[in-house]
Amino acid sequence: MSVVDDVRARLDVVDVVSGYVSLRKSGRNYKARCPFHDEKTPSFVVNPERQAWHCFGACSTGGDAFTFVMRKEGVEFGDALRLLADRAGVDLRPARRGSAERYSALRRINLEAADFYQRALDSPEGSRAKAYLTERGVDESARNSFKLGFSPQRGNKLKAHLQTLGFDIENAVEAGLLRKGGDGGVRDFFWGRLMFPIQDRHGGVIGFAGRSLDGSDPKYINTAAGPIFDKRATLYGLHLAAQPIRDDGAAVIVEGYMDVIAAHQAGFANVVASMGTALTERQVGVLRAAAGKFVLALDPDVAGQAAALNSLEASWKVLERHQAGSGFRAVGAVFRGRKLELAIAALPAGQDPDTLIRRDPGEWKKVVAEARPYVEFMIRAIAARYDLTQPRGRAEAAEALAPVIASVGSAVEQEHYFQLTSEALGVSRGALEASIGGPSALGRAADRRGRERADPVSAESSSVAKEGRDYLEESILSLLLRRPELKDAATGVASDRFRAIENRELFTSLQSCSTIDELRGSIDASLYDRLDYLSRVEYGPGDRQSDSDALDQSLRRLEQRHLRELQENILASADAKEPPPKTLEEPIVSVNAKLRDLFRSSIRSG
Ligand code: UTP
Ligand code: MN
Repeated sequence: MSVVDDVRARLDVVDVVSGYVSLRKSGRNYKARCPFHDEKTPSFVVNPERQAWHCFGACSTGGDAFTFVMRKEGVEFGDALRLLADRAGVDLRPARRGSAERYSALRRINLEAADFYQRALDSPEGSRAKAYLTERGVDESARNSFKLGFSPQRGNKLKAHLQTLGFDIENAVEAGLLRKGGDGGVRDFFWGRLMFPIQDRHGGVIGFAGRSLDGSDPKYINTAAGPIFDKRATLYGLHLAAQPIRDDGAAVIVEGYMDVIAAHQAGFANVVASMGTALTERQVGVLRAAAGKFVLALDPDVAGQAAALNSLEASWKVLERHQAGSGFRAVGAVFRGRKLELAIAALPAGQDPDTLIRRDPGEWKKVVAEARPYVEFMIRAIAARYDLTQPRGRAEAAEALAPVIASVGSAVEQEHYFQLTSEALGVSRGALEASIGGPSALGRAADRRGRERADPVSAESSSVAKEGRDYLEESILSLLLRRPELKDAATGVASDRFRAIENRELFTSLQSCSTIDELRGSIDASLYDRLDYLSRVEYGPGDRQSDSDALDQSLRRLEQRHLRELQENILASADAKEPPPKTLEEPIVSVNAKLRDLFRSSIRSG
């Protein structure tokens, strides 16, 4: 698996495009006014199944996440790769060989375990766990959509089950489902617990949390971090919440698994849980592509505590870094266009989202709608911790608040919070400025802070990639590499006929180079492996005439495929209930005509 594959696997073209354009769902696709040319009616379509975009209007071209960023940022492939790798948390150092197979084996085993636990919940031995869920108001459809289950009390039944199905026990140990004891015996890791599969944003099961049912500690045990499970990169419920978050433009972040489930069951589907940590770079990276607003639901009792404030501050810092676009500083901020906002929804004392939603969904809605901006919340929370009746307390509070105000990006907002602090502390503006400096001094401090950044996670901990193999494209390229003299046959072919960005890059470069060495010199280093592979591999029979015929035929098939895809895209973006919009009429007719022509010409040439 190449780094390009890895980056591709981790990115959703819908997320990437949403960073620039606001997309609207249309049939199975998303639609928008084309970001590359001026238009009144949307003819720009993003197809999540193919991970592709297309403009049916003036541009009349399309591509994937890479080409989108290349065009939008005006950068070369290599820079687009770096931008997107950074965003996806992929380290561009070479990934370990064979990881793709290993990852998918671990995922398969996790999925099987989730099914096993689910069936156990429905079996007699799961009856107590099921009753517990019912008692807590979790209905059947919530149980199913979150794949809740039960790990049998005794007998190492999961192990037996996996063995029966022929799964590799070592893999099950590595996935954290089984555990090796001191005596060398292998046992089930979870037993007698209510099971919450933890899913990635595509719904793949990457780990589990098990809740005790008898009040014993620890209340939850989680799968240990492993090759596919990294809780810092995960948000519980995201696979169900991603679209609602996009629709709402806001993500609500809670603490508990049960909170997410209660929210979704009650119809608040833009809710995810942060897996028990402050928001991480990776989590924010995923969310910010879908929404600009983050609402953290906090229990006000907890909110006053130092640890909670620290964790909140850590989340804010992460957001701030993203806001500053520093993650993309190499070539400009890919997602800089969107303003990020962190707001705090303070829950009534003693209530967590789960209890509040069950007691009064309307109240939950209100609490979320009335969430206050982070800085305002912090000013009040921090001020509340000092004795403001004493000069010393006021001075200390001002000192503590300085970095918070400084963290606000814009001068106008800073001015506002400066005022708010002065009011909250009962300190005059003059005195406040004397002790912590005015807004402009704070602004410079904020700039400096914005430039810090965290390291991307190594590709080794990345998820499974879809391999970017495409034999049609590869056969064309390897033919052209072997017979540069046939290059003319491909002259008129638009590079957007190639789906895989690596192939598209090579194809474009090939047209302006006459030797492989020259080609090598003109492409990004991340493409060397592919180039080497394509120049080695043999497609087709071999003599000049048959190579030439094979090339012609492949190019025709490429064009045909392109047209079919266009057709499919047009249909997929049309709303089933309505006739196709005007903007699509012309493409439909012309694509059909082209396909017919192509069909005729292929009959003629045999
Ligand atoms: P809570 O104690 O609020 O749990 O912890 P909860 O999810 O609301 O569950 P119920 O309502 O008691 O059934 C919040 C989150 O903190 C993490 C889990 O992610 C949990 O959802 N946590 C908590 C643990 O990882 N381990 C624990 O022992 C407790
Ligand atoms: Mn709870």
